[in-house]
Amino acid sequence: MKLVDTHCHLDNEKFDEDRVDVIERIKEKLEFCVNIGYDLASSKKSLELAKKYSFIYAVIGVHPIDIAEYNQEVEKELELLGGDSKVVAIGEIGLDYHWMTETKEIQQERFKKQLELAMRLNKPVVIHTRDAMEDTVNILKEYPSITGVIHCYPGSLETVKQLIDRFYLGIGGTLTFKNAKKTVEVVKDIPVDRVVIETDCPYLTPEPFRGKRNEPIYVEYVAKKIAEIKGMDVEEVTRITTENAKKLYRIG
Ligand code: NI
Repeated sequence: MKLVDTHCHLDNEKFDEDRVDVIERIKEKLEFCVNIGYDLASSKKSLELAKKYSFIYAVIGVHPIDIAEYNQEVEKELELLGGDSKVVAIGEIGLDYHWMTETKEIQQERFKKQLELAMRLNKPVVIHTRDAMEDTVNILKEYPSITGVIHCYPGSLETVKQLIDRFYLGIGGTLTFKNAKKTVEVVKDIPVDRVVIETDCPYLTPEPFRGKRNEPIYVEYVAKKIAEIKGMDVEEVTRITTENAKKLYRIG
């Protein structure tokens, strides 16, 4: 069994010059990858990629930083796109109180609208949360039937204890950084069967490539680090996290 990248942005312009090569490496080295939209345009691109390649799946939605564009029209378009079987979740959606392009109130209202959209489409969600963990947890508690992943999880295990039975934690390249103490603690505490691996590429490149462009096959370095922290074989981390990714996105 091979690894999965549960969160990548292949439509990003950083891949414009060699996207075909990057995708070729995914085909060779990974089980599949999931391309995540952050606004309507990238959601459409995400689905285009997913329709072109059997081993790429799409997630569609509007990121809290881009939430200004969210209106009824956009919601309608997302709902139409969401009918496609290659769309496996709604995201990335959530709250970002670090890069505030809209007020907390507007972010919360549109986050809830997209959670309701996910419920109508019967899809899981990909959550982005930054400096807003408490409000994120409280809102997700209002939707007890929704499942999904908390992407690039930034907090402690304590904070998400109430959600861990229905949300996976997405662990990425930051785990390999020298100052990753907090993430290392989370990985130590959390059972591997609640973990999925992600890159968030082209961002957050793991060691030993930190500073360069990230790409999906670098999930390998995250898996190695998890195995090291947990005292497990990389093969076992691979098998468990890939099964988790399939359950999360209801694939296969
Ligand atoms: Ni992302």
